[in-house]
Amino acid sequence: MLNIIKTNSEQQFNETGAGIIASLLQSNPRAILGLATGSTPVGVYEKLIELYKEGSVSFKQASSYNLDEYIGLPVDHPESYRRFMDEKLFNHIDILSENTHVPSGAAANPEQAAKDYANLLDEAGQIDLQLLGLGHNGHIGFNEPAEELTGPPHVVKLEERTRLANARFFPSIDEVPTHALTMGIGSILQAKQILLMAKGEDKAKVIAKALKGPITTKCPASLLQTHSNVVVVVDQAAGRYL
Ligand code: GLP
Repeated sequence: MLNIIKTNSEQQFNETGAGIIASLLQSNPRAILGLATGSTPVGVYEKLIELYKEGSVSFKQASSYNLDEYIGLPVDHPESYRRFMDEKLFNHIDILSENTHVPSGAAANPEQAAKDYANLLDEAGQIDLQLLGLGHNGHIGFNEPAEELTGPPHVVKLEERTRLANARFFPSIDEVPTHALTMGIGSILQAKQILLMAKGEDKAKVIAKALKGPITTKCPASLLQTHSNVVVVVDQAAGRYL
């Protein structure tokens, strides 16, 4: 089932996303969260921090598994996704750091790190809620459009378009890693519930293609149409064709 929520302001967008995550934690304090990076969830994380500070939500018993990580950046690099998560969320809430997991992009052997992350996810059991942003080419996590997609966590080569989109966070395009480690489509689709969020005019066409177009590996987010519990939160601009 696809439930599309169109929001009217940045504030409502962030509150809606954070509200869904907070209600889950209120009903299931031990929830397993699948988390995402990128600019889309930043305001959602800010709102969650606010809810935590006012005592409406606790992450003390929760655990988290992130979608992806760049390969080759040291963990303390300003653009590593581990550092992003620590700075934008984990350092400001009561989640136990040992319960937060981000794939290890700095590992000497990335293929092994992908296998280790797959094992970690297997041991964790089913993710209760997987938060997702959306790439301009329809990628989710770092699952880029391709003839075939991979189910479990794996190493991917990033499309130039993806590197270009993410270059705004780096001093220059040359410093954007060429590869990443990502949960696969299989790992993502195993979550009990998926929360897909997109905002801005530049996501309008791709989100309509993903949710209303054909199901194809050439638009990885279109695979979400096969999931039984997807909530989509958009702003007016991104939801224009929905
Ligand atoms: C990045 C991340 C994705 C994210 C996407 C969109 O490459 N790997 O997880 O959803 O791009 O990013 P943004 O939210 O900044 O548009």
